[in-house]
Amino acid sequence: MQTIERAPDFPRQIQKMFGAVAPKYDFLNRLLSAGRDQHWRQAAVNLLSPQRGERYLDIATGTADIALEIASRYPSELKVMGIDFSGPMLELGQKKIREKNRQQTISLQKGCGESLPFADASFHGGISAFGLRNFSDPKRALTEMHRVLKPNGRAVILEFSHPSNPVLGWGYLFYFHFLLPQVGKYFSQHESAYNYLPQSVAKFPMRKELALLMEESGFQRVTHQDLTYGIVTLYQGIKNG
Ligand SMILES: C[S@@+](CC[C@H](N)C(=O)[O-])C[C@H]1O[C@@H](n2cnc3c(N)ncnc32)[C@H](O)[C@@H]1O
Repeated sequence: MQTIERAPDFPRQIQKMFGAVAPKYDFLNRLLSAGRDQHWRQAAVNLLSPQRGERYLDIATGTADIALEIASRYPSELKVMGIDFSGPMLELGQKKIREKNRQQTISLQKGCGESLPFADASFHGGISAFGLRNFSDPKRALTEMHRVLKPNGRAVILEFSHPSNPVLGWGYLFYFHFLLPQVGKYFSQHESAYNYLPQSVAKFPMRKELALLMEESGFQRVTHQDLTYGIVTLYQGIKNG
């Protein structure tokens, strides 16, 4: 497995970047994915398969879309904890939680995904959507996720990939590396955040490599499946019982 090199100030840069784009984050997600992003999150939560009476952890929860999706399955009959290190992203998430009246179901906490402030075996399932790629040490984040899961707990990861069809792949490369950064910059008014997105995907392990990283972090029965022609991939792994 290749090592992922990060500059020492990488976490601070990422935190600053998400803090700056937070007000436009949801809008740009919907626009740049033509509305597919919420479908991908629903598929990820389907795979997590939340059950009544259980506790779930959403790592790098951002504006809490995944946490809200989990909560929508059995409102007031399960609990969701969302953790993220960006205050502005969490504030927007909290606003959405209030608007949907899910305060009894979802709690948000500021914290680092590579050093989770939770006891071992605290959650029945853990999930991270578009988060892992932004960690300075993704393996450490996965190991932490494994630690806080109960035996037989399920981990679900949703991350960008690259379409496996070569024709589609070229068209998508043009969109992802050329059009998307310009549209993202125009609406977010942030110089580099939407250049960082395709660059970070290009450098990050996908499919078999990311599945291997999950196995190296302790997960078993790791599987992966592409969604929307392989633009994104869903991963799952189980903590041994
Ligand atoms: C692309 S957003 C994904 C947000 C959300 N999961 C979603 O589906 O939209 C990535 C999030 O990861 C958070 N993040 C990045 N590194 C982190 C870390 N080390 N600890 C906690 N959160 C982190 C960022 O603040 C940001 O909110």
